[in-house]
Amino acid sequence: MDCLVIKGGHRLSGTVRVCGAKNAALPIMAASLLADGPSVIDDLPQLQDIQSQIELLRLLGAEVNRSADSVSIEVKDPSNSHAPYDVVRKMRASICVLGPLLARRGVARVSMPGGCAIGDRPVDLHLRGLEALGASVDLENGDIVARAKRLRGAAIFLGGNFGSTVLGTANVMSAATLAKGTTVIESAACEPEVVDLANYLRAMGAKITGDGTPRITIEGVDSLHGARHRIIPDRIEAGTFMIAAGITHGELQIDNVRIDHLMAVVDKLRTVGVLVVESGAGVRVSSQRNLRATSLTTQPYPGFPTDLQAQFMALLSVADGNSIITEKIFPDRFMHVAELSRLGASIHREGPTVIVEGPRHLIGAPVMASDLRASAALVLAGLAAKDTTTVNRVYHIDRGYEKIEQRLKAVGADIERMDEKELD
Ligand code: EPU
Repeated sequence: MDCLVIKGGHRLSGTVRVCGAKNAALPIMAASLLADGPSVIDDLPQLQDIQSQIELLRLLGAEVNRSADSVSIEVKDPSNSHAPYDVVRKMRASICVLGPLLARRGVARVSMPGGCAIGDRPVDLHLRGLEALGASVDLENGDIVARAKRLRGAAIFLGGNFGSTVLGTANVMSAATLAKGTTVIESAACEPEVVDLANYLRAMGAKITGDGTPRITIEGVDSLHGARHRIIPDRIEAGTFMIAAGITHGELQIDNVRIDHLMAVVDKLRTVGVLVVESGAGVRVSSQRNLRATSLTTQPYPGFPTDLQAQFMALLSVADGNSIITEKIFPDRFMHVAELSRLGASIHREGPTVIVEGPRHLIGAPVMASDLRASAALVLAGLAAKDTTTVNRVYHIDRGYEKIEQRLKAVGADIERMDEKELD
């Protein structure tokens, strides 16, 4: 198994380009199952999760050809509509084939995703949404089995105790494109990834308005054709590089950034003393002085994203003063707390809130990645820490950050990928 070995204390400087967004790409690739004819998706990141999605689409009868950062997808054999446990347990986002399969083929069988390191991950809202469109939904041998001859448009409320649901909105919106009549999704997720999916679906011939707001309206059509679509830049990757510049007191030009997708993050970075200015096709981020503490609460878009909570915690552990972080989307998403503490961070958790006492001088140690964003936080902490940090189980980071060590190395980090066995 690979690990990352980081010798901290180097200021990052130079230019880095952000990849296409994984979390936009996964539902968009799944939505290709709705089309008659081929689609091409551009600016796909080279990630394990994208590869898993390609394998799933092939299993579901699509011909998928990948070249550099593009992929073409065309359904050739619609006879298998089963996403089995083996696939879904590797990547929870496989759930986003449910709506497209059901709408296009009248049946979908998708293994019920379990919980994961970031906590409970129910799919009740996805299922309620599809039932409202007229599907029957059953659980058979651990699989969700959804059936409908033709879906019917309906008014659907997708709010839950923790806000709306991003992939649930993707599933219901995708399914409704082929329903008979009009669907209105209330309390829809407003995330840029949902808007990107809507743009793709429109390019395929769907009739959607209101995406990016809590009310999305979809007029069903009889069929959709393939389309070409470029994925939006990954706002979470961009935010991670911004924090990397801040935590190392470096200066990075970060290209391919939609700053309008990152307003809450930029606001917090500026509050703690990191300089962020728009520059060319991206942003220039630098930090020359000591950082200040702040408080932040994760929220649905356009609030501060849960997917940057762990990385920001690493930053706040070296900031001057006591910071408070409250996690409102996944209240148990704190696996990184114990690992950051191993590097010398002083963090106290009370339920969904942590207090980060700073500044701490981080000191390298072996640590364990538990999930994608937690592992990014550990890499960031390692970049700032004295001595050597070894982040084990980096397959988690490979799910969401393309060639992370090469890109950090190119801007001055001392970071190597090694086989864990070589270190023994
Ligand atoms: N929820 C329910 N019922 C549902 C669905 C969700 O109660 O049926 C709850 C969840 O438990 C959570 C909240 O609603 O408390 C929001 O979950 P959401 O459904 O929005 O999450 P998701 O769509 O499964 C996507 C991203 C996550 C990101 C969340 C929140 C993808 C592939 N995943 O997950 O990304 O954290 O939205 O923004 O798009 C990551 O990239 O590291 C990651 C975990």
